[in-house]
Amino acid sequence: MLSRILRLINGKIALSFSYQTEDIVALDLALKAGAKDIEIFALDTLKHFRECLEYHKAVESFYGVKIKRYKPNRSSLDGLEQKLGEFGMRESLENRRECCHIRKVEPLGRALRGKAAWITGLRAAQSATRSAIQIVEFDEKYALFKINPIASWSEREVFDYIARNNLPINSLYNRGFRSVGCAPCTRAVQEGEDIRAGRWWWENPEHKECGLHIK
Ligand code: ADX
Ligand code: SF4
Repeated sequence: MLSRILRLINGKIALSFSYQTEDIVALDLALKAGAKDIEIFALDTLKHFRECLEYHKAVESFYGVKIKRYKPNRSSLDGLEQKLGEFGMRESLENRRECCHIRKVEPLGRALRGKAAWITGLRAAQSATRSAIQIVEFDEKYALFKINPIASWSEREVFDYIARNNLPINSLYNRGFRSVGCAPCTRAVQEGEDIRAGRWWWENPEHKECGLHIK
């Protein structure tokens, strides 16, 4: 199905890679679907875990591909660092959203510029805010097709696919992480907790979106 969808796209395709299990599955499916004119990119927030940086390299060697890094704008970052210091994003929702905007949302806009389609690893079951996502959507904000090939998959299906295909995995998943974001804002979860409980753990569930997928 994905190869049929990709054949209909006229132009460059971007695939966002965030070091999570969902993204390695989306990447594997896209490459196997014969995606040709594809740019794989990571939003390098400069706040990633060391394990994510190691995984970036490991995935590049595994597939023989380049994962392009989009970094925050230097002048915005200088002001942000002065204002928030190391952990100021935890002090208010406003601070956290400003940090996510400068480190992720603005660079995403640059990454998607000129692209006809955007492949993500989003799943509907990840949170209430994602329950309505479709496999193919038109994203008005970025004016492109947004393709969520594993929209209907469960977490188990993701891990089964990884095991069956012997795909590399971020080592944080062996240490209790079930969702991976920036280091100051992500921690491991306990048995029985929600899969996104370790993301922005000090916030209410309805706020747990960094703005990348808000229309
Ligand atoms: S977030 O909004 O809470 O940060 P999440 O971490 O669940 O999003 O990731 C959902 C999808 O957004 C990923 O499958 C990936 O496509 C994209 N994404 C999130 N963070 C990044 C990142 N740092 N670099 C590239 N893509 C990302
Ligand atoms: Fe900043 Fe945390 Fe958002 Fe990363 S997840 S951009 S460190 S607030």
